Amino acid sequence: MKKNLIAGNWKMNASLEANDALVRAVLAGMGAQGADAFATVAVCVPAPYLAQVRALQSGSPLELGAQDVSCHEQGAFTGEVSAAMLREFGVRFCIVGHSERRQYHGETDAVVAQKAKIALAHGITPIVCVGETLEEREAGRTEETVKRQMAAVIHVNGHCISEICVAYEPVWAIGTGRTATPEQAQEVHALLRRQLAAATAHAERVHILYGGSMNAANAAGLLAQGDIDGGLVGGASLKAADFLQIIASAGRAAG
Ligand code: PGA
Repeated sequence: MKKNLIAGNWKMNASLEANDALVRAVLAGMGAQGADAFATVAVCVPAPYLAQVRALQSGSPLELGAQDVSCHEQGAFTGEVSAAMLREFGVRFCIVGHSERRQYHGETDAVVAQKAKIALAHGITPIVCVGETLEEREAGRTEETVKRQMAAVIHVNGHCISEICVAYEPVWAIGTGRTATPEQAQEVHALLRRQLAAATAHAERVHILYGGSMNAANAAGLLAQGDIDGGLVGGASLKAADFLQIIASAGRAAG
């Protein structure tokens, strides 16, 4: 059975001092729980802090992640960070196509697919985010939306698609305290799994994470679902105690 993947998404919340305390507390808690046996745990940190967090997590079971990557290899792209650069800093996971990037930075399905491809080419596992807005859900367009977002990534990545991670993040649940019910999430996860299965013989291998107001109280119910293989955790990943409780829920779901 594959381990759950619990990935923290710090977003634009960090400081040298806060990161140090948070990572040390998470590492201590993971050690006490024996988390390594049942979960892969990562923190996706703002780029300037990769070196700091790498020094803290290096040699530990905590994995390092980034929140975005350029869709270009290198060159005149002011402000962008390349996959090769992330790799040099020990990054193993990279969020791509987060709804905040799609919404505020105009990332299209095609750009997201290209980012996933370039991450894979550099040995980084992309965590590809898909999810519908409230408007789309209310119009009955959830399936159409997530399938369209996923299809673009499958199209560009071909047989490598089994190497990615997916995060289903309903946009209306992100940072709102409004979570999808375990059944609502499972329904979308199952359709994503079927879509992957049409493209690869290894769809079972793909981690499909749930994201959107996952917290210490609701994580267990979500992780108990058959096609939910972990979580992409925003707000609750900034508090060590909450993040550790979510990790512990992954252990209970596995056990
Ligand atoms: P949230 O964010 O847990 O704060 O809702 C999740 C995400 O956006 O990845």
